[in-house]
Amino acid sequence: MNQNRKGSKPVTSNSQQTSADRSTLLIKCLKKKKLLWIIIGIITVILVVTIPIVIIKTKKTNEIKLSTMTTETTNVVKLSTLTTKTTTHEFKTTVANPTTTVQNKPKYNKWKQHGITIAGGNGYGDLLNQLAYPVGISIDDNNSFLIADTHNHRIIEWKYNSIIGEIIAGGNNGPGNREDQLNTPTDVIVDKEKNAIIICDSDNTRVMRWFRESTTYPETIIANIHCGGVATDKDQSLYVSDYVKFEVRRWKEGHIDETLVAGGNGKGSLLNQFNGPGKIFVDEDYSIYVSDQANHRIMKWKKDAKEGIIVAGGNGDGFHLNQLSFSTAVIVDNFGLIFISDYVNHRVIRWSEGDTNGTIVVGGNGSGGGEPNQLNFPRGLSFDVDGNLYVADSSNYRIQKYELCTE
Ligand SMILES: *[C@@H]1O[C@H](CO)[C@@H](O)[C@H](O)[C@H]1NC(C)=O
Ligand SMILES: *[C@@H]1O[C@H](CO)[C@@H](O)[C@H](O)[C@H]1NC(C)=O
Ligand SMILES: *[C@@H]1O[C@H](CO)[C@@H](O)[C@H](O)[C@H]1NC(C)=O
Repeated sequence: MNQNRKGSKPVTSNSQQTSADRSTLLIKCLKKKKLLWIIIGIITVILVVTIPIVIIKTKKTNEIKLSTMTTETTNVVKLSTLTTKTTTHEFKTTVANPTTTVQNKPKYNKWKQHGITIAGGNGYGDLLNQLAYPVGISIDDNNSFLIADTHNHRIIEWKYNSIIGEIIAGGNNGPGNREDQLNTPTDVIVDKEKNAIIICDSDNTRVMRWFRESTTYPETIIANIHCGGVATDKDQSLYVSDYVKFEVRRWKEGHIDETLVAGGNGKGSLLNQFNGPGKIFVDEDYSIYVSDQANHRIMKWKKDAKEGIIVAGGNGDGFHLNQLSFSTAVIVDNFGLIFISDYVNHRVIRWSEGDTNGTIVVGGNGSGGGEPNQLNFPRGLSFDVDGNLYVADSSNYRIQKYELCTE
């Protein structure tokens, strides 16, 4: 109360001031008011600018939250594309800087359990909408699938969203060993530099290069090899597994400098041996991952190593989570996670180096079958840039796409 009275005192004294004083006071007052208006103005501007941003931000997070929730249900397509784009970006970032991200855990590591058939799925046959035991798959820069359609002795290119494929190697001429024929091709990879594909022409015991434009005749680049799988490293060196010599060899550019890089110690289950080496994968550090099929394990051979490390399986033939049953294919993602086609278990299983058990990624639902959530003797594997997984579902004569869950 006292303070209030004291506070009102100057006002009374002000009223007794001269008119000149009053006018200066008025100016001062106006200046103060001006200042006040300026402050109010600034605050208003700040509010006007910030409120919509906050609203937009809240809306955005709501949308993202909503879209992650709705990815499971196929109804809301529009919103889910938003999150897909986010993941695309993140995946691409990791591609650009793989060494730093290998230690990091992937943000998303689940795939939808129901696969979408993107090629074949129309029974066994040699029509352009059919496949006959697809074994190897690759994806080129145009998002086209290159499929080693093994029993049709052809490589078929399946453009994204297409209902039929196009024969780009072998085919029509039946199995044969002419330079324009294939016999049981089991693997195919892209040779970007030469605008070509490299094929494991298995029963012809050769590795071939077929050019994408048909004017250049196909060529045998490696002869006398029982090719189980082909891969390239970041320097475009070619790696080929040989299931008769139980080894993997590397050919540097030009295919002249040939080096034994894994195995070569006969058939067996020691750490420097293989029993039926199939598909292979080479990572950024030149480590070679080999599907050591009849040993039911995946071996990793680091650069210049004299023996491999078991990175998956190796606990005999079986269906437990620490076992594999004929590991037909292996690929490794940007985070160093190892994805394996566990053939007889009809599943794709993922291992992390050093783990005792794997984690089932897709399939593995009882025995093999032809439902969207089932696989029937899975073979080749591939990822696209968005992290979706593709599986050559060999005995269902189809290629399955498993979309990455972004939640
Ligand atoms: C990719 O698509 C472009 C444009 O259609 C085409 O010119 C190119 O030849 C294609 N590349 C391959 C490898 O098919
Ligand atoms: C591995 O899986 C088996 C079941 O197959 C389970 O009994 C065991 O506890 C698991 N071990 C680890 C370390 O998770
Ligand atoms: C396996 O798939 C069938 C057919 O879709 C389904 O009815 C069943 O519940 C699934 N079982 C398991 C264990 O996921």
